[in-house]
This record gives sequence, structure tokens and C-alpha cells, in this order.
Amino acid sequence: MNHQTLLETCRDDFPSLKRQRNEKPPVYMDSACTTLVPRQVIAAMNEYYTDYPSCGGRRSHHWFAEEVTNRVEGNSEKGIKGARQSIAEFINAESEKEIVFTLNTTHAINTVAMGFKFRPGDVVLLTDREHNSNLLPWLRLQKSGQIKVEHTTADDGNGFDLNAFESHFKEKRVRLVSMAWTSNVTGATLPAKEIITIAHRYGARVLLDGAQTVPHQAVDVHALDVDFLAFSLHKMCGPRGVGVLYAKRELLGQGAGEWEAGEDVIEPSTLGGGTVEDTTYNSYRLLEGPERFEAGIPNYSGLIASGATVEYLRQIGMERVTAHEGQLNSHLTKALLDRYGDTGWFNILGPQEASQRGGVLTFEVRRPNAVGFATELNARNNIMIRDGVFCVHSYFNERFGLNWIHPKSHRDHRMIYRISLYLYNTLEECDVFMETLDEIFKERSYVE
Ligand code: ALA
Repeated sequence: MNHQTLLETCRDDFPSLKRQRNEKPPVYMDSACTTLVPRQVIAAMNEYYTDYPSCGGRRSHHWFAEEVTNRVEGNSEKGIKGARQSIAEFINAESEKEIVFTLNTTHAINTVAMGFKFRPGDVVLLTDREHNSNLLPWLRLQKSGQIKVEHTTADDGNGFDLNAFESHFKEKRVRLVSMAWTSNVTGATLPAKEIITIAHRYGARVLLDGAQTVPHQAVDVHALDVDFLAFSLHKMCGPRGVGVLYAKRELLGQGAGEWEAGEDVIEPSTLGGGTVEDTTYNSYRLLEGPERFEAGIPNYSGLIASGATVEYLRQIGMERVTAHEGQLNSHLTKALLDRYGDTGWFNILGPQEASQRGGVLTFEVRRPNAVGFATELNARNNIMIRDGVFCVHSYFNERFGLNWIHPKSHRDHRMIYRISLYLYNTLEECDVFMETLDEIFKERSYVE
């Protein structure tokens, strides 16, 4: 099936794309923030609330509870694959016991940060362009004296300097590497396999923030040998409020005993209902496996829909998703660079080659009054993109200087705009974007 056929079959699945405003369809290009949802996933969410809105079988044992459990955990006797198993297969985990359901990527990263047993002097190594969700949890630990945070540079061409990366291990005791696998600013993807191989050589563990990777390419955690991987379903056509922490089984704790600190094993930071085998007034025995990290009643509807989400993507094929985004990004990158590449005020962040940026195209405009394009694009042709700093304040502040976003004069404006594409976008939409942006630039006398 070629990309065109892929589009024909997929776009129809998204009810939100059938809407109109001012007799025009939506042009949704903000998928790095959150994605649209296909009817198959919506149906799975609704099925829970409509047909069996009850607790799962870990708590209750009746007709409805059994159906919830079948959808989430599966039922091998009846040949039903549960959401946890579908997700494990989607990233090629060895077992569904390695899949912890969280609220989102942020929660998954915090689960590792709060649960990892650091020793005085330990370093956590990040890149210089981390989303706040992979910065703040570590800065808090640094503030309380538990770790030292270091940053390694992903250079502006976005080649990743593996030698500079390795030098951190030679100088300090790096205990954990925690990095955005794909940058939500530039779309550049790190060489994860090489990073993991080096980190393991020095006895460090690796946590990949896969929020912008897992939705866009085939992922094989087993081949990568990654220790932890965090991602969110809402960035891959799935439900909001459901994330995943993949962890190698030995890092989630084995045995049903009370918590005992083991080397690199993470301790659940939230305990309560659903996490224990048994309790007395003075003691508790945790459940084995991922459930010990899933305290309280979960978002059952979302969990069930997460299975439908990965099945939906699996049927399309992740290689096709990657190829499709690449085709659109090449088209748009060429159009933008042909038109504004030599102006001196237009700049694509990260690698210039679209093939290294997945579905992300972030550009900077340095012109007097260079604000408000996102609002204008939305008002004119329902084109939805994101502007601002995309929760990566630290990177822009370091690069442009504190307060760059509030310059003393409108002449010093520089604004950042991000287009992020996914499987439902089309070449025609890219053309509409290009024409509308050019119209705005002409009205502002940036171009003739
Ligand atoms: N991290 C999300 C984004 O980049 C919210 O838009």
C-alpha cells in the first residue's frame, strides 16, 4: 500500500477531520503536542463506559469485572489479548510484566526519578534540550542534594557527539542517563543504541523519553537493550491520561516481599489499593510486577483504548507512518527553504535535512513584530500549529539569553513556530500552510 492509499484509508477514521469552520476543514499540524483520535480508539473508550463500567478483576470478580480484566490484562484461555500485552508487543518487550501504566510520560519519568536509589555523588546526565518533564524531576533531586545534574550537548546540526557524551563517564559517576530520544523542539532523534552501549559500559542505566519517538517509528526495546522507556498514548492517536513506563523486569522488583532496596531497582513512589498482596497493621507485601506501581483505580477506559491504539498503528505499519511523515516534511522543508532560506531572518531549528527531523519542522522568524502567526494561520484557514518554547524554556534561555522572549523593542522580536505532522496529514495541507504563511508574510512586507 503506498502513502496515498494509506491516507485514503486513515483520514476517514478521524471524526474531527470531518468538521468545518467557515466552510473549511481543519488543518491539524500540532501532533507533537497531542494527536487526533480515530473512531476505533473512541469506540474502545466508549465501550467501557457503555457496556461494563466497573472495577477490574483484581478487585471484583463478576461479569463486568471480568470483561474489564479481559480487555486490560487479556485472557489466554479465551484467546483475548489485553492492552498491556498489545503494548508489550508493540515495543517488543519480553513480557507484559515490563509495562507499567502511568498517567503520561511526565508521570513515568517521575516514577523513575522518585523510585531510583541514588547514592551521594551520583550524576544524572541529560541533554541540553530536555522538556521540562525530563528536567524538573532531576533538578528537584539535585536541590535536595541527592544527585548532580549534568547536560551534554546535542549540537545544532544535531549530530550527537558520542565522545563528549562518553567524557562525562570518565570524569564522574554517572548513574543514570535520561534523555529525550527525539527532541520536541527540533525533531532530531538521538543515536539511542550507541548511547545505551556506552552508558552500560560504565554501569549506568538509561531512561529514554520516547514521547516523540514511539508514535513515529518502530521501536524495539529488546534490541536497544534500554533500561527504561517512557511514552504517552495521547501522542499516538490514543486516549489522554494514559502513559507507559517500560522497564526491564529486574528493575521493577521481583518477589512479593516487602520493599527491599536492590541495585537499581525502583521503588514505587505511590502505594495503596491495588499494589499489595497482603497487609497487617504494621507491614505490607507488595504484588509482583507492574501492578505495584499502579496504585488506586485507574482510567480503565483509557487503558482499554490504549490497546486499540497500538493495534490501530500496528495495522497501518510504523514503517509507513515514518515514510509518510518524511515525505510531507521534505515537501514542506523544500518549499520553506526555497522561499525564505536566503532571507537571513528565517531559520529552521535543528538539522536542515527533513529526513533527520521526522514529522517536526520548527522555524524561527527574526523580524520586527514577528508574533501572532499561529493565531493568524488558525483564523484564516483553520491551520493549527504551536508557537512558544514548547516546555523547553531552559534550552532557549541558554541559547538566546534570559528574557529573550520579552525584548525591549519590537524590533528585536524572534518567535519560534512548530509544525508537527502525523499520519493523517496530506501534501495538500502542506501547500495550504505554505500559501497562507506567504500571504501573511506578504501583508507584513517581509516578502514581495
Ligand atoms: N511536549 C508537548 C509539546 O511539545 C506538550 O508540545
